[in-house]
Amino acid sequence: MNIGVPREVKNNENRVAVVPSGVETLTKAGHAVFVEVGAGLGTSLTDDAYAAAGATLLPAAREVWVASDIICKVKEPQPEEFPFIRPDHTLFTYFHFAASRALSDAMQEARAACLAYETVEAPDGTLPLLTPMSEIAGKMAMQEAAKYLEKPQGGRGILLGGIPGVPAAHVVILGGGVVGINAAKIAAGMGANVTIMDINLERLRYLDDVLPANVTTYFSNPLHIREILPSADVVIGAVLIKGARAPILVSQADLKRMKPGSVIVDVAVDQGGCIETMHPTTHAVPVFTVDEVIHYGVANIPGAVPATSTYALTNATFPYLLALANKGVKRALREDAGLAKGLNAADGQFFLAEVAQPFGLPLGKVEEWLS
Ligand SMILES: NC(=O)c1ccc[n+]([C@@H]2O[C@H](COP(=O)([O-])OP(=O)(O)OC[C@H]3O[C@@H](n4cnc5c(N)ncnc54)[C@H](O)[C@@H]3O)[C@@H](O)[C@H]2O)c1
Repeated sequence: MNIGVPREVKNNENRVAVVPSGVETLTKAGHAVFVEVGAGLGTSLTDDAYAAAGATLLPAAREVWVASDIICKVKEPQPEEFPFIRPDHTLFTYFHFAASRALSDAMQEARAACLAYETVEAPDGTLPLLTPMSEIAGKMAMQEAAKYLEKPQGGRGILLGGIPGVPAAHVVILGGGVVGINAAKIAAGMGANVTIMDINLERLRYLDDVLPANVTTYFSNPLHIREILPSADVVIGAVLIKGARAPILVSQADLKRMKPGSVIVDVAVDQGGCIETMHPTTHAVPVFTVDEVIHYGVANIPGAVPATSTYALTNATFPYLLALANKGVKRALREDAGLAKGLNAADGQFFLAEVAQPFGLPLGKVEEWLS
């Protein structure tokens, strides 16, 4: 099998989808790996390290796509990559289709098999290829929130943890999954007063057991969210409904309830965002302000810490890539129902009703595509 690893082109995306140790394993198993020149540099992985591991270095992205059967990436294909995609390609990367009609239309037209990291499931129903990035994004969300609360950044000028005699900031986290618990750990560790909200009572019980005393759990519903917003210095958006667009939990009208200079970090922006006024931003220009509330909407937060995130990602993705290469795509998916859950689109049809229905795209059945 021919595996391609293009250089990521999204703004400040410094991760790379396969590291040299992965290249060595693939080439020893008889596969050819084509790596674009400079693909690893954001993670300080040199072309020489890839060549020594057995990769063929190619100077242009187009050549990598032409040479490869499976393209392994980090972020969804960008418009400049669309012309390279063929119907016989398998793309193994993050897609987050529900957040982008343009991307969904482009992949329907390209007809490639789109295997999305974020919907691959482990036997227990968890998301093994999303979890490591959510751990990082949850922790970074609090670093960013603390920074943007500072007055010179436009924030209201409150120290997240306070000091004796002066109250700490109040952090409200919407969604107590992987992003939520990691944001809560950092916020609580910095001394903030934290409220973490979820609709899953079992999850709230777990969070209550494991998080420190400065974290309060609170059942999430629209009334509770409206009531808590006036006291919030920071709101973190961390909800997920697998495969679907994120539900809107804070409307434009709700923003008026928040303090001037407070900060919203909507980590769920990659699935469309749970704050009505949010839109995706970049690491180059991460924030904008609406109604005096700072909005942070970077959709590839882990891209800023590649020395951590490249390894965290590839530790999780590589065993699946190896199975796809060794067995061929269809057999690998037939033998692993959790991996097959990652197949979002192929041959111009979508396999997730949550994407096909809102965008009016053809809905197919994975079992039929695999038969
Ligand atoms: N921006 C980035 O760079 C980045 C990086 C990693 C993950 N993410 C995104 O962060 C989001 C969260 O990911 P995760 O891994 O934590 O998901 P998760 O499945 O672990 O957790 C989501 C939680 O949201 C809860 N939830 C659902 N509806 C809710 C509601 N109405 N109110 C409150 N809680 C609700 C669920 O019960 C669940 O506990 C996803 O969209 C993911 O793609 C973004």
